[in-house]
Amino acid sequence: MQIIFADTAPDAVSVSLHASIVNQGDDLSDYGAALIGGAKAARFKGSAGQVFETYMVEGEAVKRVAVAGAGEKDADKRRLNVERAGAALAGKYLRSGETEMVLDLGQADLTAEEAAAALLGVRLRSWSHDKYRTKLAADKKVTLKKVHVVGAPEGTNANWESEAAIARGVEFTKRLITEPGNVLYPESFVTLCREAFEGTGAEITVLDEAEMEELGMGALLGVGQGSARASRLLAIRWNGGEEGAKPTVFVGKGVTFDTGGISIKPGPGMEDMKWDMGGAGAVAGGMLALVGRRAKANVVGVVGLVENMPDGNAIRPGDVLTSMSGQTIEVLNTDAEGRLVLCDALHWAQEQYDPAAIVDFATLTGAMIIALGNEHAGIFANDDTLADNLLEASRVSGDKLWRLPIGPAYDKLIDSPIADMKNIGGRGAGSITAAQFLHRFIKKGTPWAHCDVAGVVWSDKPGHAHDKGATGYGVRLIDRYVANSVE
Ligand code: BES
Ligand code: ZN
Ligand code: ZN
Repeated sequence: MQIIFADTAPDAVSVSLHASIVNQGDDLSDYGAALIGGAKAARFKGSAGQVFETYMVEGEAVKRVAVAGAGEKDADKRRLNVERAGAALAGKYLRSGETEMVLDLGQADLTAEEAAAALLGVRLRSWSHDKYRTKLAADKKVTLKKVHVVGAPEGTNANWESEAAIARGVEFTKRLITEPGNVLYPESFVTLCREAFEGTGAEITVLDEAEMEELGMGALLGVGQGSARASRLLAIRWNGGEEGAKPTVFVGKGVTFDTGGISIKPGPGMEDMKWDMGGAGAVAGGMLALVGRRAKANVVGVVGLVENMPDGNAIRPGDVLTSMSGQTIEVLNTDAEGRLVLCDALHWAQEQYDPAAIVDFATLTGAMIIALGNEHAGIFANDDTLADNLLEASRVSGDKLWRLPIGPAYDKLIDSPIADMKNIGGRGAGSITAAQFLHRFIKKGTPWAHCDVAGVVWSDKPGHAHDKGATGYGVRLIDRYVANSVE
C-alpha cells in the first residue's frame, strides 16, 4: 500500500473513491443533502469503524464518497478509534475494484498523531498474503494500492514515518506466522530475519546445534532432535540507548511446527501449529519496528527455533533432559515443548546480556485459550512494576493483556520424583504451571514477565487491524512498552 501526501485531492475522473474520517455526532453538511439523507437512512452514527458510502455525480464522473466513523472526539481510546476508521476503509475497499483512494484527514479535528494512526489502520488492514493462490478470481484480488492523503494536520508526515516502521514490523510478524511449516523452519526463519534486518544497524547472532550442544542446551535441543530440520537460536540486538545501559530483552518461542512429538496431537486442527512460532514472530517484528524507528533504547530479541516432530530420534515421555542452567527436567509430555525451548533461551539470554528486564512471548498453552479466549493474552510476572508497565502499554496499543497469578503453591505442582522438575503440572491451572516452569530459569532479582499469546496470534475472523489469519499481536505492545518505559 502506497501512502502519498498531497496538497489537493485528485478529481473524480482520476480517482473515483473519496473517503474521509468523521466523528460521532459531526454535522455532515459539507457533504451535501444526498449523503446526509443516505447516512441517516443507513443509521450511520460515526461510531468507530462504521462506514457509509454513497455515489455522487461530479461532472462526467461518478464519485464514490465514503465516510468512516472515528467515534466520539473525546473518547479515551481515541487513537485506536481513529485507527479503526482507517482500517475499516481499507477492509471495505481492499478488493473492491478501486485501485486508489483519496483520504481526507481534515474533517475530524485529528491531531497529527491521530492522523498517522488512521494511516496505520489503513496499512495494517490491507496486508494480505495471496502468494500461494495462483487461481484467485479477479474479483477477489487486492486492487487498492494507493492512498492520496489530503487535509492532514501539520506534522502527520513525521508521525507517519515512525508509524510506518511499526507497520513494517507488524507485516513482518504476520508474514512469519502465515508461512507454512514447509517454508518456515528454523533456518529459513533466520534467513528471513537476516534479510529484514540487512543494513539496519542491528546485530544478528545465530547459534547452530553444535554451538548449543557446547553450551549444554539439552532442553531446546531435545525438542528439535526428532526433526530433520536443524534447530537454531537467533539474537537480534539494537543498541539505540545509552552506552553500557543494560538492555531490555524479549524472548520468543519459535516452534516452527508443533506436532506434539511422540505425545502426538490429534489430526484435526494440527495445521494451526504452523503458528506455534507466534511468540518468536512477535519478537522479530517488534525488533524490526524498534530498529526501523531508531528507538533510543538498548534492546535484544532472542528466539529459540525448533521443529517438534516424532521420529526414531525424538525424545520420549519419561526422558530426563539437562538444561543449560544445569537443572534437569523429566519430560512427561513431549507436547509441552515450548517451555523446554524457552528455558534454555531465557537462561542464555540472561547469561549473555545481563538484562534490565526480560519479557517472553509464547504460544505456550491451550489452557490459555480456555481461560481468556481470543481477546486477551495472559501475562505472568515476578515484578509488579514490569507487569503494570506492560499492562499500560497493552491498553494504549490495543494488544490486550490480562494478568494471572504465580506463586509457590503452583510451583510445587511441577516437582518431579526423578529430576529437578517435570514439564507438566496436573489437570488444573495449565497456563500457570507453564509459567512456573519458566520462572525456575529466571535469576533472582531479574524482572521477568511471560506473555502467553496462544489465543491471540491467529484469528479465524477479520479484526480491525488484520484480515482473518495472523493478527500481528505483540509488535505494538513491544513498541509501546519500550517507548513508554525504556526510552
Ligand atoms: N503449542 C501448544 C499450545 C497451543 C495449543 C497453542 C493450541 C495454541 C493453540 C503447546 O506446545 C502445547 O501443546 N501445550 C500443551 C501442554 C500440555 C501437554 C501440558 C497443551 O496446551 O495442551
Ligand atoms: Zn506442544
Ligand atoms: Zn507448542
